[in-house]
Amino acid sequence: MSTTTEDKETKSAAIEAKLIPIYIMGKKYEVPESLTIMKAMEYAGYKYIRGCGCRGGVCGACSTIYRKPNDYKIYTGLACQTVVEPDMYLTQLPFYPAMRATYNFYDLEGKPEEIFELYPELFRCVACNACTKVCPMDVEVMDYIAALKRGDIKAAAQISFDCIQCGLCASRCMGELPQYHIAQLARRINGTYLTPRAEHLKTMVANIQAGRYKEALEGLKASDEDNLKKLYTGREMEPATAGEDWTPKDSTYL
Ligand code: FES
Repeated sequence: MSTTTEDKETKSAAIEAKLIPIYIMGKKYEVPESLTIMKAMEYAGYKYIRGCGCRGGVCGACSTIYRKPNDYKIYTGLACQTVVEPDMYLTQLPFYPAMRATYNFYDLEGKPEEIFELYPELFRCVACNACTKVCPMDVEVMDYIAALKRGDIKAAAQISFDCIQCGLCASRCMGELPQYHIAQLARRINGTYLTPRAEHLKTMVANIQAGRYKEALEGLKASDEDNLKKLYTGREMEPATAGEDWTPKDSTYL
């Protein structure tokens, strides 16, 4: 088996850190106390085929549930972000089956009634807020469900913006809602029907199609590495404090 940089980092962390016991799917392992659950599982010999994606807390593939000794609570977290604790008892939940509504998005008109029809279980929400409590992204899940029940798709899309589709909300829902799927539809509708069109984007696409940047692109393609570096480092950059009305001095390509 080949050794990756990731493996080497995990092993060198092991040399420096104290070992603590954890239970992975019922089996006890000694792992370095500084590791995330994901790295600890790899340290223990597991190889990820599923249940791992970005390793950066944004893809939602590594939902994990665990308990701690002498504590009634079920804890949830992302394996790539949560650091191991002594005697935690864990298993990963990389996928949570959801009742998927079937629809052709472009047959929809973006009305709340369509969401009600596709996901009538929306109204099974009893506002217990368990969904919000388990969300590793601190999304106010119950609030976006409440917004949807009022027919406010825009608010639901905005409140659920940070959702990474891990499915932990659905895992604890006593109304059996697939909240993360419903919110995804809300965001699609919001992006397609409720958000004003970006007129400047339309202009840029038309410019590209008319070949306005062709010559400049050909020039870049023909440049050698040194020239590309020079162009890159010498380019005019938008200052960090620039306001909405900032425009570059060279407006050739605007
Ligand atoms: S691997 Fe992507 S969120 Fe953990």
